[in-house]
Amino acid sequence: MFDKKAEYEKMFRVEQQLWWYRILHGRVLAAIQKRYGTRNDLRILDAGCGTGGLLSYLRERGYTQTQGLDGSADAVAFCHERGLRVEQLNLLYLDGWQPETSTEAFDVVVCDDVFCYFNDEQLGKLISELARRVKPGGLLVTNNNAFDVFRGSHDLAVGSTRRFVQADIERLLPGSRLHTRYTTYWSLLLSPLILAVRQWQNWQLRRGWQSAEQPHSDVYLPPNWLNTLFYALVRTEETVLPRTPFGSSLFMVLKKEENESRQKA
Ligand SMILES: C[S@@+](CC[C@H](N)C(=O)[O-])C[C@H]1O[C@@H](n2cnc3c(N)ncnc32)[C@H](O)[C@@H]1O
Repeated sequence: MFDKKAEYEKMFRVEQQLWWYRILHGRVLAAIQKRYGTRNDLRILDAGCGTGGLLSYLRERGYTQTQGLDGSADAVAFCHERGLRVEQLNLLYLDGWQPETSTEAFDVVVCDDVFCYFNDEQLGKLISELARRVKPGGLLVTNNNAFDVFRGSHDLAVGSTRRFVQADIERLLPGSRLHTRYTTYWSLLLSPLILAVRQWQNWQLRRGWQSAEQPHSDVYLPPNWLNTLFYALVRTEETVLPRTPFGSSLFMVLKKEENESRQKA
């Protein structure tokens, strides 16, 4: 999606308010706090950080040792506008990347909604490289688009080539020393609505009512009351049902083994 400047602009404008991003950022923060409590002297890498919404959110909460990487010059420029430490890098070449700071390893590596741009072979390499960058006992937190049934013009607009189920990711983990600690699909409650919207988008594409060359993504801010309602619904779902078996996103927290000799952390 590197050439889709309009999508980065939309992301930059809405990611601090749109319910979906707010829920995702909250989930990442909760995973970090569950592992590290109130410690915020953590080194955090956001691989494929987009326009920097998560990194700004974490900075506002006292996490100052953050680093972002993204392959898009536009995304990186938006991050720099926010004063974030972000470099332009194609994650296919992550193995050759040296952070400016002395150590290569991070307490937390986040990689949200990026796996869909990689085929299995590339993704296997990306996951091992991300895992190598996680300190022993540290976390890889990753959110990804889930279930093919949710495919719609949004996928076309953001250039996403695939959707995942948990097993697609877990079968690439052996050898990475990462183990699943938490996983859930989300949002179960909003699934029927999202499904209906995506099917409607597909119908429009088939009928030529929406151009396949210029498809619309779902990244836009609905009216305030609706945004607040969706946020409240999904927050309630999270609290009442911490794990749900279905939804358009898959959130996973993977922990790296504490040391070389132990097989399980
Ligand atoms: C859907 S956006 C997600 C952005 C951000 N992680 C978030 O949660 O808002 C996908 C991001 O991955 C980046 N990306 C895709 N393929 C990449 C690659 N090979 N190397 C680096 N970044 C890549 C895109 O530029 C884009 O910013």
